[in-house]
Amino acid sequence: MCPPTHFAVEYAINPWMLPGTVVDRRLALAQWEELRRTYLDLGHRVDLLAPVPGLPDMVYAANGATVVDGTVLAARFRHPQRAAEAVAHATWFRWAGTCVVEPEFVNEGEGDLLVVGSGPDAVILAGHGFRTDPRAHAEAARVFGREIVSLELVDPRYYHLDTAIAVLDATTLAWLPEAFTPASRAVLQERFPDAVVADPADAAVLGLNAVSDGRHVVLPVRATRLAAAVAERGFVPVPVDLSELLKGGGGPKCCTLEVRT
Ligand code: ARG
Repeated sequence: MCPPTHFAVEYAINPWMLPGTVVDRRLALAQWEELRRTYLDLGHRVDLLAPVPGLPDMVYAANGATVVDGTVLAARFRHPQRAAEAVAHATWFRWAGTCVVEPEFVNEGEGDLLVVGSGPDAVILAGHGFRTDPRAHAEAARVFGREIVSLELVDPRYYHLDTAIAVLDATTLAWLPEAFTPASRAVLQERFPDAVVADPADAAVLGLNAVSDGRHVVLPVRATRLAAAVAERGFVPVPVDLSELLKGGGGPKCCTLEVRT
């Protein structure tokens, strides 16, 4: 995770970012700290990446890389405003002793590459349409040696795959069908027939931007129907309020790069 020390809405690269928006950085920091606390209280380890001045979106750490079984694929951002974030992440992983693969094509890390399951059978759901280049999907398949399922996003509000799908465990997803092309919708319906279908109102508060450890699902507090639906499936919803970070178009998952070792 990376604290929102320099968080601001200085440019608009998604429809959530309204030029001229004033952010309350203290509130953003307090809400982010609450998310970090939540992970620690659930028994997870949280490593921190030092925030860099001039990179206001760096709090959205999920975009900085993708890690599967200890292999790190560095990110390559679509927009120049975020390009340097990839360097900060890659430097951190190298410092931590990990080998980092530099990408050829644009990929926005775990914003568009979602790992389902673990071990050799893990499958990677890969989004494209707004940010990640579809050619990066084949690249990720090569780097990680895992099957990739390409999915096309159609609604600019759900510009990253992690705003339209929440991976709850190795077999369960929550998703918003309307965020996908009919073809991608069909693929998801066939693979995950029991998936939780999110209410559009919950998706519209980035409710699907959730982090699950297979039991606890950390999700935006306003996504109340989604919380009830995951509870019905036996998960434990853990609501967090990241209202200030929603101004940049992100929620809990955006703020969290899952380091799968
Ligand atoms: N303002 C950031 C952007 O538009 C938000 C990134 C959200 N991250 C995510 N994983 N969905 O790039």
